[in-house]
Amino acid sequence: MGFWSVIPQYTSHIVSRPIVTVTRRLPESVETRLHQLFDARTNRDDLPLGVTGLAAALAESDALLSTLGDPLNAAVLGARPRRARIIAQFGVGYDNIDVAAATRAGLVVTNTPGVLTNDTADLAIMLLLSAARRASEGERELRRGEWTGWRPTHNLGTRVTGKRLGIVGFGRIGRAVADRARLGFQMQVQAFSRSLTDEAARDAGVTRAASLDALLASSDFVSIHVPSTSATRQLFGATLLSHMLPHAVLVNTARGDVVDERALADALRNGRLAAAGLDVFEREPSVSSGLLDLPNAVLLPHIGSATVEARTAMGHLAVDNLEAFFEGKVVPNPVA
Ligand code: NAP
Ligand code: GLV
Repeated sequence: MGFWSVIPQYTSHIVSRPIVTVTRRLPESVETRLHQLFDARTNRDDLPLGVTGLAAALAESDALLSTLGDPLNAAVLGARPRRARIIAQFGVGYDNIDVAAATRAGLVVTNTPGVLTNDTADLAIMLLLSAARRASEGERELRRGEWTGWRPTHNLGTRVTGKRLGIVGFGRIGRAVADRARLGFQMQVQAFSRSLTDEAARDAGVTRAASLDALLASSDFVSIHVPSTSATRQLFGATLLSHMLPHAVLVNTARGDVVDERALADALRNGRLAAAGLDVFEREPSVSSGLLDLPNAVLLPHIGSATVEARTAMGHLAVDNLEAFFEGKVVPNPVA
């Protein structure tokens, strides 16, 4: 029995299959499945819908399959008329959605945790290594035709193996980064998360830092893995950055707004921090010119989960959530 025969409003005839608006292009197998299950309105042009398009989609569709660039703020979610009853976010982070406003509007919100953990952790390690070993700087020099050959003092970076890594936000991705660092590079890992206990830290082979300041003051590398929330936005401002060691490297694959980009650029320029590896930015896709000019910043265009495998699994998980919802079942990944 299909879901449209379970939910009364979808029982009349086949054309009443739930309308699902998909805000961006998705991997082919995911779009194929969406078309099989729903009256799916996919986005061939792959252009952002913007607030007007999102409000229209919520008014005309039963569900929205959103991505992290869709500003689903209180104004968009509060707009009337509204037909949608679920937002299935493609992504584990959902800070683009005002979840309280969605709840007030009676909307279920789901996300896609877990399936992108390993690929994002791999990218964090890649940024850590690239920043430590000045890989981007060396590559840029070579491509400009300025490399004059091997010499003992050329492009010296800093060793990673055996150093101290501080993980801020010890959830799925933070733990996966810690595993890679411990097992692959024999790093001494300490972690900070509000609910992390000494016992849980010990079980994971890491040390629990008593405070964020204590972690920053004793880490050669710091990797950020907290979600963007009212408690973490701009957490890494000038004050916190000044608590890091001057030879330290900061890696951020979480969300750009957890770091004050201007304060970070200042610290990198003035030698108060050695290097940074960033996959995320405060105002994506724009990146502060202060960062773009710096040789000691490795900058990637938000590609933490950008593998065929992860993006396909994320798409199917979002569809699983929609399918469960319209079958009247418990959704697998509710955030609200
Ligand atoms: P998760 O499992 O929920 O882990 C988040 C961790 O942050 C939790 O351990 C949480 O523990 C901790 N945390 C939350 N607020 C905190 C605070 N104020 N201070 C200290 N710790 C705090 O999430 P995840 O799957 O690892 O994903 C983490 C984030 O990575 C996502 O939210 C997303 O923004 C980002 N992400 C980026 C990419 C990319 O492409 N670059 C890909 C995937 C995910 P406590 O609640 O105990 O503090
Ligand atoms: C990517 O940034 C995600 O949150 O899934």
